[in-house]
Amino acid sequence: MPTAVAPDPYPMFFPSVRGFHVSAGGTSGSLRALPNDLRNPPVTTNVKHHVADLGLAELGRQRIEWADRDMPVLKTIRDRFEKEKPLDGIRISACLHVTTETANLARTLKAGGADVVLVASNPLSTQDDVAAALVQEYGIATYAIKGEDDATYYEHLTAAIDHAPHITMDDGADVIGVLHGDRREMLDGIIGGTEETTTGVIRLKALEAEGKLAFPVVAVNDANTKHMFDNRYGTGQSTLDGLLRATNILIAGRKCVVGGYGWCGRGLASRLKGMGAHVIVVEIDPLAALEAVMDGFEVLPVADAAKEGDVFITATGNIHVLRREHFEHMKDGAIIANTGHFNVEIDIPGLDELADGVREVRPFVQEYALRNGRKVYLLAEGRLLNLSAAEGHPAAVMDMSFANQALSAEHMAKNHASLDNTVYTVPEDIDAEIARLKLYTMGVEIDTLTAEQEKYLASWDQGT
Ligand code: NAD
Ligand code: ADE
Repeated sequence: MPTAVAPDPYPMFFPSVRGFHVSAGGTSGSLRALPNDLRNPPVTTNVKHHVADLGLAELGRQRIEWADRDMPVLKTIRDRFEKEKPLDGIRISACLHVTTETANLARTLKAGGADVVLVASNPLSTQDDVAAALVQEYGIATYAIKGEDDATYYEHLTAAIDHAPHITMDDGADVIGVLHGDRREMLDGIIGGTEETTTGVIRLKALEAEGKLAFPVVAVNDANTKHMFDNRYGTGQSTLDGLLRATNILIAGRKCVVGGYGWCGRGLASRLKGMGAHVIVVEIDPLAALEAVMDGFEVLPVADAAKEGDVFITATGNIHVLRREHFEHMKDGAIIANTGHFNVEIDIPGLDELADGVREVRPFVQEYALRNGRKVYLLAEGRLLNLSAAEGHPAAVMDMSFANQALSAEHMAKNHASLDNTVYTVPEDIDAEIARLKLYTMGVEIDTLTAEQEKYLASWDQGT
């Protein structure tokens, strides 16, 4: 039976604090912060894997179950998949952030009969206990280690492709990118794919525009029940969570610059405002900028915002939004971070060039001593802050995102023969059903149209 233990002073997403040492070949280190009752003896398994430490599996299982309590829509789908097995015989290669929520998606796909391999979609977003639990507790092949270097990241992508998938499931289009590049010989058996995020959809549409997309892909990101909630409320809350866990700064009274006022930027700006920040938005799109102004935010060109801001967070999906000419004018102590998909939004090589020295002053906080005598602080190596320094979006919002993933995989398995090699949106009936189910599980009831209202809405002849 579990015994009372001192609480872990650090959450388990801080590998350097926990003593993990990451190298291309894996990790080594102590489990000093892990409560005794959650340590497992060394384990062996037949399930293929490359994870930090299978001994973390029990802790991972507990956290996966905790997340599952807040994922009732996905659970409903899992229960149906268990009975109907719509993915029987389908090999799925999923390249997603390896979190408790993703574990529940992987369990759902497996319940549907799929043979799933899961690999990390970002070197810093893996939760090592979850990766261990997926292998040992749920029998799902997993290749993901928090802090893996680029070579290991690509080895893991190779494992996903070597699985010879029928369906790919990407967050950022890396599996599809490699398949359309060096591994074209594997394209043959693929019936379709799904894509989780804005940047991935942009990459896929570029591939499609060049006439090179080799199979149909469902843009899960574009479902209303995905981006309106995940990108906005999920990123808004979890990015702030990452900022606080990494720095423990007071938000109230600080000038926070948000790069991009799209779905993620809007969510982040509103949450920062809610905690008392003075929010400045930088944009390149007049419509988005106008919306920010009318939502009550100051809008400035990035060159001006650079001089004003205390905290900068990019959420644009674009490259070098913050660059050399901006770092040079930042205040002493400015904090810089990114929550967009790739670590390109901040020009880190440019920042390196301006600095005399770099040192880690807290987990996920690197101090750059600039030659102008000021110091600026880069969080999480410019990788998405919410998944690197915190746990990513809460389960309640990933419930809808991953319900879309599971149902899109089922849709692909059933309908691939009639689909073209283009980027599809999630079918409207699936999107609407997820909204209906989510409301139902939240205990929220809504009205239905009366017959009179239906008739009125379909008519043209009743005016003033
Ligand atoms: P979006 O298209 O809704 O918004 C992006 C905004 O950035 C647009 O308004 C665009 O005009 C603006 N923009 C582009 N270039 C700019 C520049 N140079 N300067 C200022 N603004 C600029 O996209 P989104 O859904 O908000 O996603 C943004 C990024 O976040 C993507 O990379 C996406 O993949 C990623 N994302 C991350 C998470 C997460 O968990 N951290 C979740 C969802 C999406
Ligand atoms: N993207 C953002 N948050 C996430 C989470 N909790 N799990 C998987 N992918 C995510």
